[in-house]
Amino acid sequence: MSAALQPFADGNWPDVPVMPVLPNGWSIGRMSALDLAAVSEIEHRAYSHPWTRGNFENSLKAGHLGLTLRDPTHTLVGYAVLMPVVDEMHLLNITIDPRRQRQGLGRMLLAVTLATSHDHRLHTMLLEVRPSNVGAIALYEEAGFAEIGRRRGYYPAGAQGREDALVLRRGWLAEEA
Ligand SMILES: CC(C)(COP(=O)(O)OP(=O)(O)OC[C@H]1O[C@@H](n2cnc3c(N)ncnc32)[C@H](O)[C@@H]1OP(=O)(O)O)[C@@H](O)C(=O)NCCC(=O)NCCS
Repeated sequence: MSAALQPFADGNWPDVPVMPVLPNGWSIGRMSALDLAAVSEIEHRAYSHPWTRGNFENSLKAGHLGLTLRDPTHTLVGYAVLMPVVDEMHLLNITIDPRRQRQGLGRMLLAVTLATSHDHRLHTMLLEVRPSNVGAIALYEEAGFAEIGRRRGYYPAGAQGREDALVLRRGWLAEEA
């Protein structure tokens, strides 16, 4: 696979999200209970403070929208969890298998989550991110997210400490669809 996977031909994120065309053989699916073993396995390798399998189960039971990204061999390489709240979409989780990071897959999956939000007629996406997660922040900024706030001590951190969360938002106009 190309090291420079780009969801958009010109490399620019569109003002109004559109569903990216996946490379041949790649697929986006709806996360189900059947995916949770593979999801949890990646989650525990990807985070210092991972979601538990029960967190994913509860999220799906609560009606959150889980998305999976699979490669042409049908291997799960990433996933995202989205929560609609009134007129906003909250991105609760977006993860790429650490073995497959920095190949453009996070960019692809983030573009899918934005387009999915637009398809649900929700024109704002919100997310929280650790200030130390410079890679994710770089990706979100590239996608047009901007910081709108900070939640003090939101995340658990090493040795019983806590880390703030930055709150990032991207909005777009409904009319331009
Ligand atoms: C954040 C994450 C989803 C990004 O996925 P990815 O597939 O590695 O990202 P991409 O390859 O699509 O990167 C797109 C751009 O984001 C930025 N970026 C991504 N990871 C980066 C890193 N570790 N350091 C610096 N910039 C990074 C770069 O600008 C990159 O473009 P480039 O590779 O052309 O320089 C992935 O690193 C991940 O799953 N991390 C662990 C879980 C996590 O932190 N999720 C976010 C929680 S808020």
